[in-house]
Amino acid sequence: MRIAVACDHGGFVQKDAIVEHVRSLGHEVFDLGTNSEDSVDYPDFADRAARMVSRGDADRAILICGTGIGISMAADKVAGVRATPVQTPKFAELCRQHNNANAIGLSGRFVTLEQNLELIDIFLTTEFEGGRHATRVAKIMREDDPDFQGVDA
Ligand code: RB5
Repeated sequence: MRIAVACDHGGFVQKDAIVEHVRSLGHEVFDLGTNSEDSVDYPDFADRAARMVSRGDADRAILICGTGIGISMAADKVAGVRATPVQTPKFAELCRQHNNANAIGLSGRFVTLEQNLELIDIFLTTEFEGGRHATRVAKIMREDDPDFQGVDA
């Protein structure tokens, strides 16, 4: 797959090892920075990676900030992107099986590199189950449609 990787200064400590790991699995990786521990704004890096997914230039995004929260929140605002913070193997599995997540936000400060690599492996190998979950994911995605007026309209 084509994988966009982006981080802020809180994720930089793990980013290069993550890029190397994902490349070693045979994926094409787009390293979108940041490239130092200098303070940056995570929404800028989330935006670059998320827009690659939105345009179809990348299949998935792996995002890393201090917690994984802010960078996921920013990415999820981009049309076509389903981003979530992930901290446990079960959540990595379920975000693919049930939610068809195409972006995950990892914590560079509170989760070890070894644990994050396990989460990434699960994220990249677990299939979406479809079925009833496809109906629900389609309902998530209607929020991208400016003409959608809301369920109670
Ligand atoms: C940056 O200090 C920090 O706020 C950021 O990396 C992230 O944790 C935000 O959600």
